[in-house]
Amino acid sequence: MKPETSPQNPTRFQTQDLREWLRVTEELGELKHVKGAHWDQELGAITEINNRRRGPCLLFDEITDYPPGYRVVTGTTGSPARLAGLLGFSTDLSNAELVQALRGKPQQWETLAGDFPPETVQSGPILENIKSGKEINLLEFPVPKWHQQDGGRFIGTGSAVITRDWDSDWINLGAYRMMVHDQKSCALNMALGKHGRQQIERYFQEGKPFPVIASMGHHPLLFLFAGLEVAYGLSEYNYVGAIQGEPVQVVRGEVTGLPMPAYSELALEGWCHPGNYKMEGPLGEFHGYYSGSEKAAPVLEVERIYHRNDPIILGTPPGRPPHDYSYSKTVIRSALLHEALEKAGVPGVVSCWADEVGGARMLLVVSIKQAYQGHARQAGLLACQCHVGAYLGRYVIVVDEDIDPSNLQDVMWAVVTRSDPARDIEIIKRAWGGTGDPQRVTFTDKVPYNTRGIIDACRSYEHRDVFPPVAEASPEFRQQIQEKWKDLLV
Ligand SMILES: Cc1cc2nc3c(=O)[nH]c(=O)nc-3n(C[C@H](O)[C@H](O)[C@H](O)COP(=O)(O)O)c2cc1C
Repeated sequence: MKPETSPQNPTRFQTQDLREWLRVTEELGELKHVKGAHWDQELGAITEINNRRRGPCLLFDEITDYPPGYRVVTGTTGSPARLAGLLGFSTDLSNAELVQALRGKPQQWETLAGDFPPETVQSGPILENIKSGKEINLLEFPVPKWHQQDGGRFIGTGSAVITRDWDSDWINLGAYRMMVHDQKSCALNMALGKHGRQQIERYFQEGKPFPVIASMGHHPLLFLFAGLEVAYGLSEYNYVGAIQGEPVQVVRGEVTGLPMPAYSELALEGWCHPGNYKMEGPLGEFHGYYSGSEKAAPVLEVERIYHRNDPIILGTPPGRPPHDYSYSKTVIRSALLHEALEKAGVPGVVSCWADEVGGARMLLVVSIKQAYQGHARQAGLLACQCHVGAYLGRYVIVVDEDIDPSNLQDVMWAVVTRSDPARDIEIIKRAWGGTGDPQRVTFTDKVPYNTRGIIDACRSYEHRDVFPPVAEASPEFRQQIQEKWKDLLV
């Protein structure tokens, strides 16, 4: 089954080649070229300023110290048009329309994924250059140091780390940060519980080295879903194949036999050996702080580098939101949350929003059409505990259906006018936190639990008929006035 398309152009995004995707993105007016930026923080700061303005995708070339053609791209998923096009929707959707269009899709993609295993091909652009032995030098490529206090140069941010399960054929793709240690090795930082981490631990239990291929530049859909919690045991290759309606083409690595995208720009192949750990980090995190600090992570010893001529690294630095991938995470997590609440049996969910201020995790807003007493509490408590909302959350706000959850002004108006702090704030203690929580320094528990606040900002159910009316023009009258005074109110 092919994904939906519209006359606008989305079929043109259905390519496996990052370069073709960039060409289409440029045609759409969503790409700018940047020449002469320095890999040391300048590229990171330009990206940061551009993201805060919700600017275009940036393709950096002629990077200081590097030959022309060795490029870095950032901001691949940072606008409604770019994200909608990637997912196979019309590129003129608004945020709300995009979230609406996504309803039911993750379930559909998951169901279809079994029909789209990756297709092994004999050759592909990634094999244009194959390096081994003395030719291996990770710093041959313009690896950015993104922010001033980062612990080093990170070749992997928008990476897809490809690994195989010990007990089955399951191939996992995860976006995990990778800091360069030296010419031939880099760190592989996978948090406890992540699929790649579960796999490596199993190999090490057996006393075996862990085979890895890390793709550093590829079609942004691969990055997007490598960075999302796709179900355990399901390969992101299949998932992306289901979205695009065709299998992802892969070629086999010479050393590990792992499948890498045939259209990858740059891929590192090698092994993590049991006991070989080294300090790495820090890197700014998705919530905007350096709370993860420096830690020991497995070392990837690189035995092959594969790259296209004039390779492009897909960079996506986290940091104070809005950052490089907070927009796409917000949209997709919002859709996943809506789906999860409905699956959990909450009726009347109008819309959900995992706001960028919390890096798409720490502030969730749910709007409902209240149907019974306790409905709002039910929605809030489930939102903060269902799988998609459970990890490293902080606040959930539940609002009535007249409030747009993606409009913080509207949401906070509901909080200050419809909630009573003594009655409408629930606290959950010892929830699923993480060591990267910026509040971690204040918590006394040894293990990284955290606390959730659920704010019920709906008009109280029993008072909804006597609650003071809102002082504003009715939607119908506003529409009439907007029509009549369109020159003034454009
Ligand atoms: C740019 C970016 C960087 C990330 N860095 C890390 C990281 O260093 N370690 C980690 O465990 N998760 C990191 N994540 C989150 C994981 O990619 C995400 O949890 C994903 O689901 C992991 O794949 P898995 O579910 O197959 O384990 C990052 C995500 C993105 C988008």
